[in-house]
Amino acid sequence: MAQMPDGEIAPRDGLLPASAALGSAERTLHAYLHIPFCRVRCGYCDYNTYTSSELQGVTENSFLNNLLREITLSKNVLEALHSEQRKFSTVFFGGGTPTQLEAEQLALVLETLKSEFGLEQNAEVTTEANPDTVDERYLNTLADAGFTRVSIGMQSSVSSVLKILDRTHNPENVAKAVAAAKSAGLQVSVDLIYGTPGESLDDWRESLATAIDLDPDHISAYSLIVEPGTKLARQVRSGELAQPSDDDHADKYEIAEQMIAAAGFDWYEICNWSKSPATVSRHNLAYWRSNDWWGYGPGAHSHVGGTRWWNVKHPSAYAERLVASESPALARENLDEAAKATERVLLELRLREGISIDYLKSINPQAAKPISHFIADGMVNAEDAIRGQLTLTLKGRLLTDALVRDLLG
Ligand SMILES: C[S@@+](CC[C@H](N)C(=O)[O-])C[C@H]1O[C@@H](n2cnc3c(N)ncnc32)[C@H](O)[C@@H]1O
Ligand code: SF4
Repeated sequence: MAQMPDGEIAPRDGLLPASAALGSAERTLHAYLHIPFCRVRCGYCDYNTYTSSELQGVTENSFLNNLLREITLSKNVLEALHSEQRKFSTVFFGGGTPTQLEAEQLALVLETLKSEFGLEQNAEVTTEANPDTVDERYLNTLADAGFTRVSIGMQSSVSSVLKILDRTHNPENVAKAVAAAKSAGLQVSVDLIYGTPGESLDDWRESLATAIDLDPDHISAYSLIVEPGTKLARQVRSGELAQPSDDDHADKYEIAEQMIAAAGFDWYEICNWSKSPATVSRHNLAYWRSNDWWGYGPGAHSHVGGTRWWNVKHPSAYAERLVASESPALARENLDEAAKATERVLLELRLREGISIDYLKSINPQAAKPISHFIADGMVNAEDAIRGQLTLTLKGRLLTDALVRDLLG
């Protein structure tokens, strides 16, 4: 996350190679907006986000103006590429803490996307939210503007765990935010983290039970990653906190599956469960299925037709580019067929619907061998394999990375 890939220097006009237009009729278009502000930084987080003292004079207002400039630039770049302009199927505001901005400011950005591109009918429009930053008025304003979904950073309900994570939100505000979002008519997702040093299995069960009691539409559960350069990494290195163990993560993943499924949710991606097919995150599915998306904002990544690029990281560098009417893209790369295939296996195997065995054999003629081992070891579903689809069992979900390595040979 903190590290940017290398790539080639991106052109200052942001124009894309003609190859990026190929096959675009088969792909949907999505918008991600990166809002790089947080009131305080949580000890485990290495996202591209800044507290006020780190912003080098960038204000929320100036940032917003530059975000709108990038939307205009994206329209020009995509118009130069395609004869027919696509509307956005989904929009996702992430961060950082998008809800650090006023609701009216988020609404203005959405309005601009609508007027420049248009949204597909029934478009999904999500914002991430820190529970301390939203109330009824805020969420009603978002719903009135066309937002359909809010994803709330709950992480845990256990105060000792929240403390180790350095979370400053008041756990009681999670229930308030969920209730306010529901009364505004928004779909609700909650994010949880498991495997925090010192978190017992019972602590994790308590967080899951609390999340389930909130009756959200969707739950995401992520294992805590110790990201290099974070306060958490320093605490683990110095021995102040224990390194989270793979066994603890696996036990907690199994508990999550058991409790969340028993409450009527189905997994549709390794870390994501939904109450119904209507409440899956269509935005995230678009990434996993390698559709096209424009990532707006500092450090945001984009992908259009096999060309991937990423923006300059700091909000002040981002501002400099856009004020000079230049693209904020720092570098880019064109994925060759082998890279595209690797990525497709990595992403699609994570989905409940899995990946076609014929496709796997087409990219690796030796794939039949590991597949028969996976079936024998109960890591993939035998019945699905007979009908030509490789789908993971719970055991396989715990070992996805190893399976991907074997499949790619
Ligand atoms: C940008 S944050 C969500 C919005 C808001 N900033 C908040 O934290 O409430 C996205 C999610 O990433 C997850 N996340 C961030 N750093 C992580 C890490 N090191 N390991 C696991 N999950 C992490 C958290 O679950 C968090 O809710
Ligand atoms: S987890 Fe969310 S609130 Fe905490 S620093 Fe990261 S982006 Fe900000």
